[in-house]
Amino acid sequence: MHELMPDGGVIRKLWIYEAQRYCDHLLRLDKASRRSRFGGAVADDCIRQHVDGSIMLDAVIHGFFVDGVLHGAAELRPIGARFSGEAEAAFSVEKPWQSHGVGSELLARTLLVARNRGIKFLRMHCLAENRRMQQLARKFDADLRFDFGSVIGEVTAPRPTPISVVREALSDGFGVTNALLDAQTRFFKPT
Ligand SMILES: CC(C)(COP(=O)(O)OP(=O)(O)OC[C@H]1O[C@@H](n2cnc3c(N)ncnc32)[C@H](O)[C@@H]1OP(=O)(O)O)[C@@H](O)C(=O)NCCC(=O)NCCS
Repeated sequence: MHELMPDGGVIRKLWIYEAQRYCDHLLRLDKASRRSRFGGAVADDCIRQHVDGSIMLDAVIHGFFVDGVLHGAAELRPIGARFSGEAEAAFSVEKPWQSHGVGSELLARTLLVARNRGIKFLRMHCLAENRRMQQLARKFDADLRFDFGSVIGEVTAPRPTPISVVREALSDGFGVTNALLDAQTRFFKPT
């Protein structure tokens, strides 16, 4: 149905100081995508509150960047007590970048991180009419179990394996290089 990841697109974890970039991305979502992402219509202020100071401490957020601008994200946030083994995941890809495989890549990275954190239950709230998200989750049906109304995923390999840890470290290594390049680009960009 679609091409590979868009040219020049990079996926990496967000740094703790990138809350504003995450907020700007969520604010840029078109009306329908915003509704799907938050399970209903939400005002700009609600989004700003969502991305408060603590989110970057609590959550693991992967970002999809093109030319240093964040156009997609996957948020993995623990639910309840620190070692409860439950987390919530939410995905957002800006409209021009949808249907290019970005969501699939973000979900794959999120599942890997969840597994490596010992998360056994991964909750994804998904509106009943959100066929695209349901289709995306179905691609990972070996790793996820579904429920109606909201997609409730269960990570089938709750314990990290050496291979899964190395896979995450490798993707982080790639991400660090790109983050540094990106920071350098912004630093040297003429104003
Ligand atoms: C849901 C979302 C994250 C998916 O990201 P994406 O980058 O568009 O997804 P992908 O391109 O990886 O496509 C995933 C699957 O969706 C399906 N899909 C893609 N485009 C579709 C379309 N226009 N209509 C229906 N299904 C579609 C395909 O089956 C695809 O699988 P394939 O690769 O086997 O063809 C993204 O569309 C989005 O941000 N939507 C708005 C917010 C939202 O709904 N968030 C989810 C709730 S948390």
